[in-house]
Amino acid sequence: MAATRNSNPDEIFYRGADNFFTANAEVGLTFDDVTLATLYSDILPSQTQLDSRLADALHLNIPVVSADMDTVTEAPLAIAIALNGGLGLIHYNMPESEQLKHVSRVKYHVQGLIQDPIKVYPNQLIGDVLKMIEEKNFGFSTFPVVDDKGGLVGLLSGHVVKPRYVSKRVSEALTPRSQVHTVTKKELGKDPIAVADKFFTEHVGIHKLLVVDDDDRLLGLITMSDVEKITQERKAQFKPSRDSQFRLICGAAVSATRNAFGELDRERILNHVGALVERGVDVVAVSTAHGHSKGVGDTVGVLRDAFRDLPIIAGNVTSAAGVEYLAECGANIVKVGQGPGSICTTRVVAGVGIPQMTALYVCSKAAATKKVSILADGGITKSGDIVKALTLAQGVICGGMFAGCTEAPGDVVEIGGKLYKQYRGMGSLSAMKAGSAARYGHDKADTTRKVAAEGVEALKEACGPVDRVLASLIGGIQSGMGYLGAQNLEQLREKARYIRVSPAGQREAAPHDVVELKTRN
Ligand code: XMP
Repeated sequence: MAATRNSNPDEIFYRGADNFFTANAEVGLTFDDVTLATLYSDILPSQTQLDSRLADALHLNIPVVSADMDTVTEAPLAIAIALNGGLGLIHYNMPESEQLKHVSRVKYHVQGLIQDPIKVYPNQLIGDVLKMIEEKNFGFSTFPVVDDKGGLVGLLSGHVVKPRYVSKRVSEALTPRSQVHTVTKKELGKDPIAVADKFFTEHVGIHKLLVVDDDDRLLGLITMSDVEKITQERKAQFKPSRDSQFRLICGAAVSATRNAFGELDRERILNHVGALVERGVDVVAVSTAHGHSKGVGDTVGVLRDAFRDLPIIAGNVTSAAGVEYLAECGANIVKVGQGPGSICTTRVVAGVGIPQMTALYVCSKAAATKKVSILADGGITKSGDIVKALTLAQGVICGGMFAGCTEAPGDVVEIGGKLYKQYRGMGSLSAMKAGSAARYGHDKADTTRKVAAEGVEALKEACGPVDRVLASLIGGIQSGMGYLGAQNLEQLREKARYIRVSPAGQREAAPHDVVELKTRN
């Protein structure tokens, strides 16, 4: 019988996750150490679905998250990632008030029916309105005008919100109620976008439609540009990630901040996250280099008690015990990765960390038991790495893949005829000085201790807009799923079979023995 059981060469050589990783328990494996075996498939890449539910209240249309790093994710990149179906985590190397503005910019980007539009009041000065736009970083300048009972008084159009009119009152500058186009909620019916689309076609030159109740109180606002984006979006295979109010989703990183006595600063953490929630943040990430630690666990616990339904990401860990600990503290999603990042030196400096595929396997076992998701954080340099990571994790976090994008913070520099953008580890000395020291267990104000950097400052070649980078990553993920006959990510996790690759096999995997004229994509 044993001979019959072992006679299937596929089963002997290409093993499912449990068999494969247990058989390789004595060695830490990362992406290039393994390859996936193909399986019979009747699934074309274009038929694969990439949506991933990271938590009950957090659903992504593609399983890609941009890293909370100060050279990667601020509002422009978070918007671009969310428009493609993923999630951006705004970093915390900036004053809290600044981070709130970034979250607002993402949440106010495109909304369709804006349920609770920003309003102004007749008595305000245009100067106050300009100040509000600057403070909150709004990308728009037309506002409905209401009285103190919410009754519609008019519309303040963007072309009068100018420094020239700072000392004029809103009441002097507004378009009066009689000239403002409105619709009642009832008239919008079941498909407000279709009704608004028809309205804008019929009313040439009108770009804003206000929604009122039967007593003429303002309920919402619909803009033509949002309607156009949404009608286009309905045809797209990967739709933007949106919340229940049709706003783009956005995450923000928070740190396990300590007070002057070295204790967890509960009040500050709660105020910070409270303000983020008020701005509509969809998930917070308690981001540190060592997540299996009291400070991180306590922070997660404090947040879980205060915000029962808020999805919480916490990390980073590389052990099953680390996942269990954070899950028990209240995290829904755990970041896995210590030292795999392209700018990381944790393994070199501290001698600590686990190669990513082994870490993901170990953590995935605990995550399944605790019913939490894991995100593969760091070390991803190509779409094939993402496919491998997704055989064990519910999503991936990428820093380096997006740091060269147009939407990433920082200027493009030219060196030797090539264009680059700065990319630095959050554990590099310069980033820690700017605020991320707590992430690595240090205090930036403490000048008495010796602190070793755990990250480098580097450059990434400028690689154009996020849309382009994601298009090739998504194409690659879909190809991988097609090869495995996996229609969705759950099937990918079930079907994956692995084999280790020799150094010669790794060389064979990349273009070789040719003069490459055009690099991939
Ligand atoms: P990639 O490979 O996508 O990695 O560039 C991004 C991830 O790396 C982590 N990170 C660091 N790890 N020292 C580290 O050891 C650092 O200075 C550092 N900065 C970022 C982080 O998890 C990020 O998502």
